[in-house]
Amino acid sequence: MRRPMVAGNWKMHGTRASVAELIDGLCKQVFPAGVDVAVFPSMLHVSQVVEGLAEGVVVVGAQDCATESQQGALTGEVASSQLHDARCELVLVGHSERRILLGESDEVVVRKFAAAQSSGLVPVLCVGETLAQRQAGETLAVVASQVSAVIGALGVEVFDRAVIAYEPVWAIGTGLTASPEQAQEVHAAIRERLAKCDAVLARKVRILYGGSVKAVTATELFGMPDIDGGLVGGASLNADEFGAICRAAGS
Ligand code: 13P
Repeated sequence: MRRPMVAGNWKMHGTRASVAELIDGLCKQVFPAGVDVAVFPSMLHVSQVVEGLAEGVVVVGAQDCATESQQGALTGEVASSQLHDARCELVLVGHSERRILLGESDEVVVRKFAAAQSSGLVPVLCVGETLAQRQAGETLAVVASQVSAVIGALGVEVFDRAVIAYEPVWAIGTGLTASPEQAQEVHAAIRERLAKCDAVLARKVRILYGGSVKAVTATELFGMPDIDGGLVGGASLNADEFGAICRAAGS
């Protein structure tokens, strides 16, 4: 019922040459027909990737957008309408690296989410707890409050055109993956939070898992009932590995 999605977040990686190689590698992959596949290159490389992947099934997203949807005087930022014009279809909002390292608050994340949707982009709302929060038993409360910030400001119905990514901060780039059971518990809680407002919608929203996903761990993770695919960092910089993770979502 929910169509799986696998998305590659390339973070602050790539040169024109390495991005060209990655595009070539992606063009050689056999992607399963039943899976939505997306990549999120750096802003600098969005156009190169959009052009390079134009013939294929992989769609392109941006890793961030401005809180404003329209162009204007905001040095260094990129408006969601500009991303739409550049043929991005998705945008990550609230990645933990931005929340923690750049101090992005829930309020800012909500504004970016709204800007993205008003420009016709699908926001991928990233949520997740730190190791300290997990150890303090706060995981479900933290994640629920990150989702609630969007529901409270914009209404639950905005999730009709959005994706959620659960990314435990302690599993990002560390090689530590949440166990399928740990991830499932949080995914189910996120769906439950949405269901409190709209049970029908909650069943339709795709919730991706992110945090050290590799081809070897993907099948088991994606086999859990509330895990609808993955948001892949490091492993998405290798086209063959990324292709294998996409195929795991289609199996
Ligand atoms: P890694 O797969 O490198 O742990 O990164 C996950 C992530 O942050 C994707 O957005």
